This record gives sequence, structure tokens and C-alpha cells, in this order.
Amino acid sequence: MKHYTSVNDIEDWPKLWRTVAKVKENPQGRKTLGQGKAMCLIFLNSSLRTRLSTQRAAMNIGLDTVVFDINQGGWQLEMVDGTVMNGSKAEHVKEAAAVVGSYYNLIGIRAFAQLQDREEDYQETIIQQFKKYAGVPVISLESSVRHPLQSLTDLITIEEYKKKEKPKVVLSWAPHPRALPQAVANSFLEWMRTTDYELVITHPEGYELSGDFTQGVTSTNDQNEALQNADFVYVKNWSSYANYGQVLRTDNEWMLTWDKMQLTNSAYFMHCLPVRRNVVVSDAVIDSPQSLVIPQAAHRVTAAQTVLELLLENG
Ligand code: CP
Repeated sequence: MKHYTSVNDIEDWPKLWRTVAKVKENPQGRKTLGQGKAMCLIFLNSSLRTRLSTQRAAMNIGLDTVVFDINQGGWQLEMVDGTVMNGSKAEHVKEAAAVVGSYYNLIGIRAFAQLQDREEDYQETIIQQFKKYAGVPVISLESSVRHPLQSLTDLITIEEYKKKEKPKVVLSWAPHPRALPQAVANSFLEWMRTTDYELVITHPEGYELSGDFTQGVTSTNDQNEALQNADFVYVKNWSSYANYGQVLRTDNEWMLTWDKMQLTNSAYFMHCLPVRRNVVVSDAVIDSPQSLVIPQAAHRVTAAQTVLELLLENG
């Protein structure tokens, strides 16, 4: 594996699962793999899980890590080639990425969607520019389009908790007061489509995701119908893709409640966190024994360590 920015970077699935199993069994089993090497985690946006789990994973393999909140102390980066840089942006990504790549063996970067210009966001410009100019492996810590560390985590969690070979997995939209990117939902579908799970997506009209991610996935605007006999319910808000970045509704009709969970096959509840209680999901669901949010978040370390090991093994 050369970079880790989408499911398409996985070259050897059996090796991925062997690494996951070894990391789960003994996270400290390869304490010297990262010795003498260092990683820089660049954040343009807030984070709790990604920031801490990736550092924890690095610690487990002896990899030094620096976290750089680039908006607080870094220069504003110009992303477009050929620009006359006479505005507020002081440094071009060509130099910035190459310089960071000369200091560190791995670079992680988080850059959310701006939700202003769909074409621009869906080019994943910052990640692509770092891949082009850094000269070292780049790890997406959530781009404008995808969140692959979260999705690997989700897959590891479902594999661990599933009680049948082909569980029914439902991705349900939920309300939220603010406009959120589509990255978690896009990425979840991209990863789930590599499995033979029964996969269903449900959302109100107007919240259709890009066809690049939903192709072949059963979709319905009837949440109750989708929840019937579900084994896993993954809840997430996203803003509209068609009316790009717009919040079309905020009423609580689509909140996941305990009543709705009764339609399921005693489903496990999943969410990437952070989650707004009693807006996205009721306390009764997230506090129930069917909620996986804490073990799911714990597997962020498993996923990050797996990715770091595969990248370091590749040299
Ligand atoms: N799920 C997730 O990525 O959490 P953070 O935004 O806190 O990193």
C-alpha cells in the first residue's frame, strides 16, 4: 500500500485482515516497527478520535508523531497551480507538502469539505496535492469526500459483532442542526460495497448521495421499511448533495428512537461520533446494550495501527 486515502488503496485484502487480527490480539506485538521514523498529522479541522487514536496507534509501534494544527500557526496554503499569489495565502502546497515530506516518513491530513462548491470539494484537492508533492505516503484523516480510517473501523466492528454471515446493514440519515459533509456516509458505502452484506440506505427525499457511492445499493425514503429486521443500524447526518451543502430539514422525524429499534432484529446501533444526543439518536438507544459506539471508537486504534503497519512494511 503506497497511500491510504480510499478503499481503492487496499491492494491485498487477506493481508489487511491478517494484520487486523494480529493488531487486535497483541497491539504491542511490533513495538519496533516504527523505530527511527516519524509521522506528521496535519489538521485543518477539529478532531478527538482521529487525532488521539492515530497517535495511540503510532505509539504502539514506536513511531514518533507530531500533530500540526495548521490553521493555528501555519501559513495559509495556496492549492491551485499557476496562481499569482498576491492575496492572503503565503505558501503554495507544492513547497509545503515537499518540506513536510522531507521531515517525516508519513503524513496524515484532515481537510473537510467547504460545502460551497461541489465540484471543488469532490476533487479532494488538498489530499491529492499532498499525494503529488509530499514524496511520502499520505493518510487521509478525513477528506472532503471520504473518511477511510472511520470506514475500516466500521467494517472491523461489524465483522466482530455480526451473528450471521450476511447481516442486514442499514445506513440511515438523521437530522442535525448544522450542514455536515457527506464523507462518512460516502466512505461507509464504498467500504460496505466490498462485502456481501445486505446493504440498505434510507434518507428523506433530497438527501440522495452521489451515484458514485450508491450504485448497486438498495435505497428507500421509508426509514421504517429499511429498519425491518436490520442487524446493524448506522446513523449519520449529511447535507444535501443535489442542493449542495444545504440543510433541507431539521425536524426530529428521522431521529433514531427506541420505538424504531423495535422494528429491527435487535440491531446494534453504530455512529462514528461525535453525536448530538436526542437530535440524531435518543438516549435510550445510545445508552442501551445494543449501542456499539464505544467499542467502535476503540477500534479506531485498530484501524489506524493496521494502516500504519501496512504502509511501513511497504518501506
Ligand atoms: N469519528 C471521527 O472522525 O471523530 P473525530 O472527528 O473526533 O476525529
